[in-house]
Amino acid sequence: MDIKKKRNKFNVDEELESPFDSTHLKRSFKYIKRYGKSLIFALLLSVVSTILSLITPQFSGLVVDKYIPAGNIRGLFVMAACFVVIVALIILINRWRVLITTRVGQTIISEIRHDLFEHLQKLPFDYYDTRPHGKILVRVVNYVNSVADFLSNGIVNIILELFSLMAIIVFMFITSPKLTLLTLATMPVFVIFIVLIKSPQRRARQKLSNKNSNINAYLHESINGMKVTQSFDREEVNYGIYSGLAQDVRNAWMKSVLISGTIWPVIGLLSDTVKLGIYYSAAANIFADISLGTILTFIGYVFRFWMPIQMLGNLYNNLINTTAYLERIFEVLDEPISIDDHEGATALPEVKGRVEFRDVTFAYEKGVNVLEHLNLCAEPGESIALVGPTGAGKSTVVSLLARFYDIQEGSITIDGHSIYDVKISSLRSQMGMMLQDTFLFTGTIMDNIRYGRLDATDEEVYEAARAVHADDFISQLPDGYHTEVKERGSSLSAGQRQLISFARTLLADPRILILDEATSAIDTKTELLVQQGLQALLKGRTSFIIAHRLSTIKNCRILYVADKQIVENGTHDELLALHGRYYDLYTAQLD
Ligand SMILES: Nc1ncnc2c1ncn2[C@@H]1O[C@H](COP(=O)(O)OP(=O)(O)OP(=O)(O)O)[C@@H](O)[C@H]1O
Ligand SMILES: [Mg+2]
Repeated sequence: MDIKKKRNKFNVDEELESPFDSTHLKRSFKYIKRYGKSLIFALLLSVVSTILSLITPQFSGLVVDKYIPAGNIRGLFVMAACFVVIVALIILINRWRVLITTRVGQTIISEIRHDLFEHLQKLPFDYYDTRPHGKILVRVVNYVNSVADFLSNGIVNIILELFSLMAIIVFMFITSPKLTLLTLATMPVFVIFIVLIKSPQRRARQKLSNKNSNINAYLHESINGMKVTQSFDREEVNYGIYSGLAQDVRNAWMKSVLISGTIWPVIGLLSDTVKLGIYYSAAANIFADISLGTILTFIGYVFRFWMPIQMLGNLYNNLINTTAYLERIFEVLDEPISIDDHEGATALPEVKGRVEFRDVTFAYEKGVNVLEHLNLCAEPGESIALVGPTGAGKSTVVSLLARFYDIQEGSITIDGHSIYDVKISSLRSQMGMMLQDTFLFTGTIMDNIRYGRLDATDEEVYEAARAVHADDFISQLPDGYHTEVKERGSSLSAGQRQLISFARTLLADPRILILDEATSAIDTKTELLVQQGLQALLKGRTSFIIAHRLSTIKNCRILYVADKQIVENGTHDELLALHGRYYDLYTAQLD
């Protein structure tokens, strides 16, 4: 039951069923427009190589009909030499063309990725709250690859193959109009076949890409949660889920290949039927006027005749896939940046740090208010502690202050400036946040501390680390400040990670400081030291501290968050005297 439910959750296919929609394709021309000249040149190169390759069958006809009967050995060698030169030319021209289209393709890839990443960085938290991250990854990595390949190679190839097809028919006509008609007579069979398999083939491909996307999403989550998986001994259950998803990919792949795999045999069959017809007509002497050499030349064309048709079939599939992928990519790019600078937003001047929430109502999901008519006020330099039960909305309050989410009602101001009227970057750059889960990036400890202020000198980094007593443990590491932080800092203890992120926040020297459970993993002895460092650093900054360990916040003004509001407000002693909720919480911790 559980497995089924879980599997279903990851087995939600993205809807790729939308019919072929050329608007996405038109929009994608923005990426290739600049390379129009290169692509046209690549096309010209291909045209030349196609014509060259169509000349070669003429040689065999000439040799059989003229040189062999005449015993013209010299002519034979000249023909062979021409053949070698032409083949060499074709190879060179094709290489040149591949070089051009690959370069264009790779540039398009990096441009689309650039746009996507830039946009992803601006998307608000609630975008990430509601989507499997694995599926976002697939779009940026896999879909972009396929799309770029089509935009550079595919479009050139479609034009080229159409041209080849026409050129081949022309050459065939020149060689023998009768045999050409015989060949074209098989075309309707092929067209009927393609019409029949077109739609199952498209569905199979879309299913395959959906299943791939699902397994990626699951894999991504599993890797992130591997420690939890192993500690709960859930490997087998998860293996089952994963196998199920992998099985789906396999089935989808098999089906897609089975369908596409019928095309080649059908083409082979038709092409062989045509050849048989030609040989038969030669044997039965039906076309008495056609020489053996002509037949040989023509057979060479029959083989080439089906190639562009097959290629066009593949390219059509790619076109369908590409438009579906483009739809996904543009969907990300069109995702509104709901949290953005308003029109006419001005830079927030350097603030003193008076923070005021007035009558704030906020809901993550419409209708479920997390905060209702909440009021709070912090004077410049004041240290405010937010306490309250789990899920009361403490982290939410500080997220709102940094404008990670927009409120539904009320106002939030800093020094009288509404945070909605100022530029977000000017707001966040004056704010230092240490969030509930510390996140370290790949790089050295030094890089991580410097994350928020890239121009800080080494000495300033050491100073910040010393201030929060992170220096002690960092200097004991074999590489000191140059120790590489592995995946999210998994080689450091939780407390060490918090100390590093502490130094990072302090180095950024924010006017407003937010510490969300920032000291929860630091042992009591270190905490005392950190407290001393903190006291000096809190001075002159407005700070919001969220801590479950109440000993940390005795010197702050305490706001008790509960019932979507602030229900108690005062110093530690005042609230104890009140014998209210804070009193209960505090005495419960003493036990
Ligand atoms: N991204 C989110 N989307 C939807 N609901 C959320 C989101 N984040 C938090 N919530 C909900 O909002 C409420 C307040 O959450 P919040 O994280 O602010 O609590 P908290 O007081 O910080 O709790 P804790 O002490 O456990 O950290 C909770 O009921 C939670 O379920
Ligand atoms: Mg919280």
